[in-house]
Amino acid sequence: MIPSEIEQYCINHSSAQDEVAKELFEYTKNNIHGSNMLIGPMEASLLSFLIKFGRLKSILEFGTFTGYSALVMAEALPVDGTVTTIDINPHTTKTAREFWDKSSHGNKITQILKPGMSAIEEIHQSFDLIFIDADKNNYSHYLNWSLNHLNPKGVIVVDNTLWYGKVLKRGEDKQTDSIIAHNQTVAELEGYTKVLLPIRDGITLITKS
Ligand SMILES: C[S@@+](CC[C@H](N)C(=O)[O-])C[C@H]1O[C@@H](n2cnc3c(N)ncnc32)[C@H](O)[C@@H]1O
Repeated sequence: MIPSEIEQYCINHSSAQDEVAKELFEYTKNNIHGSNMLIGPMEASLLSFLIKFGRLKSILEFGTFTGYSALVMAEALPVDGTVTTIDINPHTTKTAREFWDKSSHGNKITQILKPGMSAIEEIHQSFDLIFIDADKNNYSHYLNWSLNHLNPKGVIVVDNTLWYGKVLKRGEDKQTDSIIAHNQTVAELEGYTKVLLPIRDGITLITKS
């Protein structure tokens, strides 16, 4: 949504990630199909800021991919913090584990290899931060579940809520309509404060108020 030189300037003037996370980012970009799905350093710095500012300790993530976002969130957590991350792809999650094992923060991360909808049936705790970044068609389901599993001072972060700018037009495809429906639900939520930021592909933040 912003020119790449401006985004790079923002990255250069924000806190950077640890070496293993940087290495994982480069490895994914150069070797893994679909690397455009990575959140990237700008969003990584934002997640890290939210975690540290809010003194957050427990995180649930929908959408591990090669584990970059899980690792940058783990880096921002205190030693007793935890990240539980869900994905269905055994190949990319294997890469994730290989890199996490190289990091001193990897032991904070637990991986669940299941579809998000069935994984959440077995999760009965609440979290300080819930990051939604998996299959777009289930965004509304993940959101509803997250609203019921968010700690009082917690935050829900939803990625890709501008969906390449396609959210301005209904009826393009199923994923776009799903994100439009999710965004409408968020806009109408009562008892929550929310903001949709035009950072990268759109990031929505939601907290109880
Ligand atoms: C955008 S990527 C996640 C990127 C990751 N958060 C990062 O920035 O490092 C989306 C991930 O969702 C996963 N996914 C797709 N459908 C899923 C489902 N039904 N349940 C869980 N994960 C799913 C894909 O395998 C993919 O790895």
